[in-house]
Parts: sequence; structure tokens; C-alpha cells
Amino acid sequence: MDVPPAWNRITISALEGVVLIVGATDTGKSTFARYLYRRLYEHHERVAFVDGDVGQATLGPPTTLTLALGEPGDDAFPPAGVRYRMFVGATSPYRHMLPLVVGAQRLVEKARAEGATAIVYDTTGLVDPAHGGGELKMALVNLLRPSAVVGIQRRSELEYLLLPLRRSRRTRVIDLRAAPAAQRRDMSTRREYRAAQFRRYFQDARPLRLPHNRFAVFPSPQFAFRRLLALEDQEGFALALGIVTGGDLGAGWVTVLTPLPSLEGVDAVHLGDLALSPQTFTKPEEGV
Ligand SMILES: Nc1ncnc2c1ncn2[C@@H]1O[C@H](COP(=O)(O)OP(=O)(O)OP(=O)(O)O)[C@@H](O)[C@H]1O
Ligand SMILES: [Mg+2]
Repeated sequence: MDVPPAWNRITISALEGVVLIVGATDTGKSTFARYLYRRLYEHHERVAFVDGDVGQATLGPPTTLTLALGEPGDDAFPPAGVRYRMFVGATSPYRHMLPLVVGAQRLVEKARAEGATAIVYDTTGLVDPAHGGGELKMALVNLLRPSAVVGIQRRSELEYLLLPLRRSRRTRVIDLRAAPAAQRRDMSTRREYRAAQFRRYFQDARPLRLPHNRFAVFPSPQFAFRRLLALEDQEGFALALGIVTGGDLGAGWVTVLTPLPSLEGVDAVHLGDLALSPQTFTKPEEGV
């Protein structure tokens, strides 16, 4: 990792609670977030990391938000402690902003309850105001109340958002330029990365018989082969993802490919908004 001098000039001791990392795609958000996570351990006993990127997820399968809690005093990354996931059900925040902000809040609340006094929150690259990027970021600021927003810019693409925030006392803005080492990745590289993250997640998955008429199903049961779903606990955290691979859709049971060994603790089935091939882990419309 290349550490630009500006990163070392940040007053880390002034950071606490949530630190929200904002920037367009490929500006180096996730790389900076990892750097910041480790630096925060210089001042905090327990730091948490929220991977808030449902597309280019770094700490779990795409379509989910992942909270990873560090062990007290241990700055290793990825964090070694317990993980919690919220299922958004899509690989883009566009048109799925409500579950994204609700999931964000639930994970931050959990991180605080587990004793994390600093929480690095890495976001998606959706910053285009024409697609709701500004509204989404402001919703996260108002909901999560970060002590600082780190804005990483290539040019001035975040100014519409950062300018008012700099004048406001509700948070601090830390301005960074995209690191020269940050590499652009094209759509096919992003798709392949997503498929690889799913493949890693499902590598030890097995078929599990799911009698779905015994569970709450959100939204109402519309099972279809290849549908991606989450098996959720009573609090709404995703215990695991699954892909519908067989069964009798009309008879109330399906077979789900999932790394979850049993249905113990499952309270609800949450259907996602996408289908996924259980062989290639790509969306059918993306081809093999
Ligand atoms: N400071 C750095 N030193 C070395 N490599 C970097 C640095 N910053 C970014 N990169 C490289 O550039 C690429 C993009 O960086 P990164 O994943 O951090 O960006 P991002 O803004 O999180 O992207 P996305 O929008 O896809 O989430 C990665 O391959 C990463 O390794
Ligand atoms: Mg990223």
C-alpha cells in the first residue's frame, strides 16, 4: 500500500465514533479505510469496520453489508472478531437505498453495543447526485452522525456534498485526493471480482432443505430457481446467504445451496432482488 503524506497528517486522535469514507469508484476508499482502521487502534481499544459496499464488497459476499469487529488491542486486518451481516439483496444501492441505510444503522448500533469506540464505515462509489448519491450520503451522515467524513476526490466531484458539510458543525470534513496508485477497474473486472467474492463465500456450501412455509418470508413467497436469498435471525441479521437450486416451489419447500449447516436460529427468509448461477456465481443476464 502506498501511503500518501496527507494520510500521515490526519490527526487520528480527534477521530471517534463513526468515520465515514466517501468517494467515487476507484478513488482508493477501501485502501484508505484499511489504513485508517489500523491507525485508529493507536487510540482505541476496540475498533470496528463496516464494509458498506454491496457491489465491490471486501469483507463478505456482495449484496450484504458486513460489520467486522476487531478484538481488543488487535489491529490485524481483516479484523479477527465476530461478524454481523445485513442483507440488502442487490449489488447496487440504486433503488435499494432503504435497506442499505437501515442495515448501516443496525450494524453501527451493534458495533457500539459491542464496545467499539471507533467505527470505520466504507461506502459504495455511488456519489452521482443524478442517481441519488448525494441523498444517500447525506442520509448516512444524518443517521450515523460520523465524527468525520473523509472525502476522497479525483477532481471536485464531491464538492456539492462536502461544501455544505464543511460549513456545518454536525461533522468534520477531511479532504483527501485520490491516491496516485489507485487503479481504475472496468465493468468486466468488477463483475469478475463480484463473482469471485460469491464463489469464495459459497465454496463450502451444501444443499439444505428449506420448508419455507414454516418461516416468515420477506417479501411474500415468490421463490424461483437461482434466486439469491438470506436466512435471517430474529434480529434481522443474515446468518447466511443461499441460492435456490431445486425443490417443489408449490409444495412449500425448496433446496437452497448455503454454507449454513442447519436451519437452527433461522427466523425468516429474505428474498433478494437477483438471480445467481450456482455454478458461475454470475447473474444469468451477465452470461457465463
Ligand atoms: N494508496 C494505494 N496504494 C496502492 N494501491 C492502491 C492505493 N489506493 C488504491 N490502490 C489500488 O487501486 C485499486 C482501487 O482501490 P480501492 O479498492 O481502495 O478503491 P475504492 O474506491 O474502494 O474502489 P470501489 O469504488 O470499487 O470500492 C485497488 O486495486 C487498490 O489496490
Ligand atoms: Mg471499495
